[in-house]
Amino acid sequence: MKMTDFKVKDPHLASQGKLLVEWASIHMPVLNQIKHQFEKEKPFKGFTIGACIHVTKETAVLMNTFAAGGANVALCGCNPLSTQDEVAAALAKQGINVYAWRNETTDEYYWCINKVIDHKPIITIDDGADLVSTVHVKRKEALERIKGGTEETTTGVVRLRAMEKAGALKYPIIAVNDAYTKYLFDNRYGTGQSTVDGIIRATNLLIAGKNFVVCGYGWCGRGIALRVRGMGASVIVTEVDPVKALEAVMDGFRVTTIDKASSIGDVFVTTTGDINVIRKEHMLKMKDNVILANSGHFNVEISIPDLESIASSKRKIRPNLEEYTLQNRRRLYLLAEGRLVNLAAAEGHPSEVMDMSFANQALCVKYLAQKSKMKPKVYKVPMEIDNLVARLKLKAMDVEIDTLTEEQRKYIATWEAGTV
Ligand SMILES: NC(=O)c1ccc[n+]([C@@H]2O[C@H](COP(=O)([O-])OP(=O)(O)OC[C@H]3O[C@@H](n4cnc5c(N)ncnc54)[C@H](O)[C@@H]3O)[C@@H](O)[C@H]2O)c1
Repeated sequence: MKMTDFKVKDPHLASQGKLLVEWASIHMPVLNQIKHQFEKEKPFKGFTIGACIHVTKETAVLMNTFAAGGANVALCGCNPLSTQDEVAAALAKQGINVYAWRNETTDEYYWCINKVIDHKPIITIDDGADLVSTVHVKRKEALERIKGGTEETTTGVVRLRAMEKAGALKYPIIAVNDAYTKYLFDNRYGTGQSTVDGIIRATNLLIAGKNFVVCGYGWCGRGIALRVRGMGASVIVTEVDPVKALEAVMDGFRVTTIDKASSIGDVFVTTTGDINVIRKEHMLKMKDNVILANSGHFNVEISIPDLESIASSKRKIRPNLEEYTLQNRRRLYLLAEGRLVNLAAAEGHPSEVMDMSFANQALCVKYLAQKSKMKPKVYKVPMEIDNLVARLKLKAMDVEIDTLTEEQRKYIATWEAGTV
């Protein structure tokens, strides 16, 4: 039998991790159904799958699904602060080649990605496109073997589309993020709930009565805005897209610029996928005791260099909560070093929502394994996969829906029928 190679914080945490993975698995019925199917079919026999994705209990269920389908799996984290060390230990014990621990330095983070590439993957799975970009820039020899890949998040899809446009993308990628059964639920309800969870775990402050500024009213932003409104916050949205801004207004939120919101907000959360959304000039206008958090993919949405430059001192209050005292004596509190607060300060999305995102991942990886000669482009998730995931989820939730009658099917397919 092949030996598993790994580097994790502490292999002795494996039994704790196993319990967490079991807990997630109980709440992932769709992925489990796919896993049973893979066990019988072995669609990944002879395949190595290389994944760079948050190492959480739900990811463990996905990796076990691939292993059940016959794959050799190599995994690293896609964020230096999001790995659940117990889960990494459990995966190593179960035979997954895992390179991940919480609090990696940037060098360690890329060392882990390179270890995954050393396993010679045929299919890659990314969350943020760091694996794909490392392969394309530093490990070009790996390109020859890679058949295709998938991408989990909005920021990764944006990067990959830019690569495609520049003619730099060398293998096909399926944008799992863009499946309806992914972003409508994962980005909205998953990020919505878990971002609030992260803020509460880091601060244990009351949401009710706070002026809560949400920067970016995309799928994640609207989830956060919805949830904190439900908890009694007064929500202010900032946007750059006029349609999204209008939508936020009609959804009943106050919309203004970050400049104006700066002096009003008690809590700020960025979720734009953009850079330097909250800068020095905004921080200098903020009230005393303001909380700053980010739920976008990279830690660049709140300018930490700006914060450092205007601070006269800083100290760590408790895990994931750092106090910056500014030269104007006001204190700003940065959560989880500006990294995605829901994964760094909480546990990421609930298992039920990852059930759908990862069912898409599993079926898309199978699709890539079976397809040949796909062009090096960014592809949508095939509609039959998206629909299948929705149907399986509804079935697991014991929800029935109607079916079109033959008459209805014909009626909606014709253009001749009009006013009666
Ligand atoms: N925390 C998580 O677990 C998690 C989950 C899913 C996605 N994400 C990440 O969250 C980010 C947002 O994802 P999404 O799916 O909501 O994307 P989206 O494209 O639906 O929304 C982003 C919104 O931000 C707006 N925006 C861009 N620059 C802005 C600026 N300077 N000021 C205000 N608004 C601005 C855009 O107009 C857009 O409406 C991405 O980085 C994505 O990868 C995180």
